[in-house]
Amino acid sequence: MFNPLTLYLYGMITRISSDVHRAKSALDKGQAIGIPTETVYGLAANALNPAAVESIFQIKGRPHSNPLILHFFDVQQARPYIQEFDPELQRIMEVFSPGPITFLVPKTKAVPSLITAGLDKVAIRFPSQPLLRRLLSLLDFPLAAPSANKYGAVSPTLAQQVKEQLSGEIPLVLDGGPCGFGLESTIVGMEGPKAVVYRLGSVPLDDLAVVLGYIPTVKNHKEEQPMAPGMVKYHYAPTTPLHYFSPTQNPSTQCGYLFLQHFPKGFDYPNSIALSTDGNLKTVARNLYSMLIEMDSRGYSKLYIEKPKPEGIGLTIIDRLNRATAKYNP
Ligand code: TXA
Ligand code: MG
Repeated sequence: MFNPLTLYLYGMITRISSDVHRAKSALDKGQAIGIPTETVYGLAANALNPAAVESIFQIKGRPHSNPLILHFFDVQQARPYIQEFDPELQRIMEVFSPGPITFLVPKTKAVPSLITAGLDKVAIRFPSQPLLRRLLSLLDFPLAAPSANKYGAVSPTLAQQVKEQLSGEIPLVLDGGPCGFGLESTIVGMEGPKAVVYRLGSVPLDDLAVVLGYIPTVKNHKEEQPMAPGMVKYHYAPTTPLHYFSPTQNPSTQCGYLFLQHFPKGFDYPNSIALSTDGNLKTVARNLYSMLIEMDSRGYSKLYIEKPKPEGIGLTIIDRLNRATAKYNP
């Protein structure tokens, strides 16, 4: 039973559930819901329903110039929406899909232009998260889904964090547990004969290079498509000012610190937290957003984070942290 006054004051009641049939029924009705993926939680809707897609932009506060990724169960489901797949991308797909990789490929007319911001290529991916795969297998339409954060904010990696950001705006968050990778998918496409990476992500460059036989060029600047140059300078940012930690600084009780594994001398819990117990950057990646959101909620005046080495998934972590710290170090 819900109280009608609660509904009036707070809008829609947002429930957390792991029932895929409930999720399907909300999507069939044209509602946007939170979904688990192996990367981050998404804000999903029926990609073929213009009002449903429009609600994604409204709920996120996202400009229409920033296109959406389509999520499918498998290539068979995706066929009507894409033209031929380049053999180079095919090789990448065989190794990394289903999984945290997105392909930018020429679209067919079946993809509404609202999805691609009028561009002639569409971003598609085949998630590996088991509960989402069950849901996708039941649907007869693709799911358009950006990350389930408000525009510019940190992407959630737990169902509860989606509820905290979007409470009252969506009816349901499908709870698939914590995201396994914790950083968004790698976006890859073709320019001439070579694969190009448009967003560093959960599949590291080195792993792509092993399959391709060369290191793909990174054209990461297309991550955001500002409506006017310079409008979108930052992303993935907590509301507490975030800076890189410098080994010469002294601890302050007013500040929060995030370290990769060990705390330097004088920095203690609870002001300091470790992003991993093993120093493995994959663990750091999995915990990063979740711990940033947690530290952001504690009311510190500033947050400091230790920068990882620029190798493997560390390159993606640095990319996100550069964007997050850019808000406070223009
Ligand atoms: O891991 C992920 O990819 C997550 C989960 C939910 O699947 N989704 C995600 O979506 O990160 P979003 O919307 O937060 O980021 C998608 C990025 C945006 O930077 C967007 O500009 C780019 O992909 N993108 C999408 N479609 C595109 C297109 N047709 N051409 C160029 N860039 C595109
Ligand atoms: Mg996003």
